Amino acid sequence: MPKLFEGAIQDWKYVLSFAAGAAVFWLLQFAYQFYVIIPNQFNLSLIRSFAFSGATLISIALLLGPLARLSPKWNFVMHRRMFGVCGFALIIGHSASVMTFLFNWNIQSIGLNASPFDNPVLFGLWAYWILFAMFLTSTDWAVAKLGTKNWKRLHRLVFIAYTLAVLHFVLVNPSALNNLAGQLLLGLAVLVFALQLLAFAKTVFQKRASLIEMGVGIALILGLGALLYLGFWLK
Ligand code: HEM
Repeated sequence: MPKLFEGAIQDWKYVLSFAAGAAVFWLLQFAYQFYVIIPNQFNLSLIRSFAFSGATLISIALLLGPLARLSPKWNFVMHRRMFGVCGFALIIGHSASVMTFLFNWNIQSIGLNASPFDNPVLFGLWAYWILFAMFLTSTDWAVAKLGTKNWKRLHRLVFIAYTLAVLHFVLVNPSALNNLAGQLLLGLAVLVFALQLLAFAKTVFQKRASLIEMGVGIALILGLGALLYLGFWLK
């Protein structure tokens, strides 16, 4: 049974340099917002730079699995955990800066009773707690504690969390996406959905998916597709 953070401690140079790279990426996003897009607006630049850098790294984490399945020579799955963990750490910064500068840590002022299509902050809030559970279980210790089957079941929820996050950042303030940071994130989101669908289709056609996996996959595609349709076309 591995100890908590045993893998990260053993591989501390890789973990620290990856985290440093993520911090530099966030700083670049901050400088872009603060000096180019919304000059001298410190609070909003914090909110947006954490949001864009976090959501971008999480999107890259979701690209690596299907990429390796579709083209084995592009196998960077070993970096998936660090992209996911660093991405969510930045999203903690995003939600904390939103709660500090926009909602004054008053949960009621988020407007919890509204429909998420009228108040897309709620989509972010739902995505946040699913991603938080995955963040807490992103260690070898948690995989051993939960058992691989349960761990995989929990981490399959990423598809629901990511769809909720996309609905959140596309609907909450669309004008904030009209720049390089927003377009990069939107482009990656389209790529994530396309590659995940292609990899699922390949698994099905190569008959490497059990009937249950096929059923769950098709139900997820239809359910999340309906949610996106509701969010973008019906609203
Ligand atoms: C507690 C959970 C969350 C809250 C309260 C929250 C709140 C907000 C708010 C108020 C905005 C609009 C900010 C503005 O005026 O520009 C926003 C934007 C955004 N959020 Fe969230 N969010 C949460 C979770 C998430 C999650 C989980 C993600 C992605 C994984 C995310 C990604 C984004 C992105 C990319 C934007 C657009 C950039 C921006 O406008 O800042 N948020 N969020």
